[in-house]
Amino acid sequence: MEILNFDKENDYIKKVSEINKNRNLKYYILTMGCMLNENDSEKLCGMIEKMGYTKVSEAQKADLIVFNTCCVRENAEDKLFGNLGELKTYKRETGAIIALGGCMMQEKHIQEKLKVSYPYFDIIFGTHTLNKFPEDLFTILSKKEKVTDVIDIDGDIYEGIPIKRESSVKASVTIMYGCNNFCSYCIVPYVRGRERSRKHEDILKEITKLAKDGYKEITLLGQNVNSYDGGSGYKFSNLLNDVSKIEGIERIRFISPHPKDFTGDVIDAIKQNPKICKILHLPLQSGSSNILNKMNRKYTKNDYLTLAKKIKEKIPEVVFSTDIIVGFPGETEEDFNETLDVVNQIKFEQVFMFIYSRRVGTPADKMENQVPEEIKHERFNRLKALVESQVPENNKKYLGTTQKVLVEGESKNNKEMLTRKNRNK
Ligand code: SAH
Ligand code: SF4
Ligand code: F3S
Repeated sequence: MEILNFDKENDYIKKVSEINKNRNLKYYILTMGCMLNENDSEKLCGMIEKMGYTKVSEAQKADLIVFNTCCVRENAEDKLFGNLGELKTYKRETGAIIALGGCMMQEKHIQEKLKVSYPYFDIIFGTHTLNKFPEDLFTILSKKEKVTDVIDIDGDIYEGIPIKRESSVKASVTIMYGCNNFCSYCIVPYVRGRERSRKHEDILKEITKLAKDGYKEITLLGQNVNSYDGGSGYKFSNLLNDVSKIEGIERIRFISPHPKDFTGDVIDAIKQNPKICKILHLPLQSGSSNILNKMNRKYTKNDYLTLAKKIKEKIPEVVFSTDIIVGFPGETEEDFNETLDVVNQIKFEQVFMFIYSRRVGTPADKMENQVPEEIKHERFNRLKALVESQVPENNKKYLGTTQKVLVEGESKNNKEMLTRKNRNK
């Protein structure tokens, strides 16, 4: 893996802008999946706007349509096929360019399905070739040839890709790419490759610039941020301390840490730096040690509870959010009750709940004792009911308190209201 500069692609940006000159072209982008994908999309928008396109919010008004896809669960994949189906006539009538990128494109069986059932796309690009989007677009514009630009090897890290951010107060900054954990249910390591960390100097430079531009909140992103390796012993805790020193930044968040790597130095860094938000995302996945073992999570129920307790003892104001999967292969009623037990004990501020979804190529997909759909749904509903029943109690602790909030803009539901998050949310 190398850390490279984006300069070479700038030539393609220039070439495409030359072709597009005075054409008043529009683009539409739909982002599926996690914050890492959102951050990639902001880079795509940065490149695309430099090539002469203006953003629109409807696909059927655009000359360039980009789908940045996710494949973490089946419903994420269905979303792409639904959207593509709707564009068939529009594509035929207008000749708009359709570009498909992101995690799903790294999957061979998806590429095949697209070629057979949705052949009217123009560009397929993967997670390792995002930086080459201007080159791919140039190929289609100049040679009218379909482009499939997906590589299996881990991509290099590109610094200096233009970026057009969604917000003017909060920004996410990817600190590492890929994942080495291979949780047995998860497709991410297959589509995002092995862990690669950015240099801490590059990260700090980016955040210093964001602070100068008026950004107040930074979210550090990676699939497993606490295995960040900035080289020469520079760890995630060092990064947290250094980001905290940047003047102008008032809040720091990070996702996701893995419970198995949540070391004491990271806990100390969170405690010592008031800018670090005191809501920690600590993905549980399951409360059953047996299932956790089959998931290859490398911690037990007790390890998880002990870690949460240790953090809480050191930083009493901390609250937790989490991810939980229900219906992993072989999950019994007892296993599921262990999950409910952890939820009962921790009283998470927020729980992202998922029904287990079989992913082609992962070990869990090959496990024989898959849980029937109706049992998965029934357990999901029971978990949801428990989580919802905890909300009033969780919110009570804020009654009568004064909270410092960062105003993020007008509320989506009511323009008279401002939307905000306090330090914990
Ligand atoms: N790297 C992060 C999360 C990545 S994916 C972490 O480890 O926390 C986000 C969440 O999707 C996971 O935490 C998990 O709860 C869920 N997920 C991943 N694969 C899944 C699958 N096959 N079925 C259902 N949920 C899944
Ligand atoms: Fe997937 Fe596990 Fe990696 Fe998270 S840590 S991305 S759940 S393999
Ligand atoms: Fe989805 Fe890829 Fe993120 S699979 S969850 S968009 S890393």
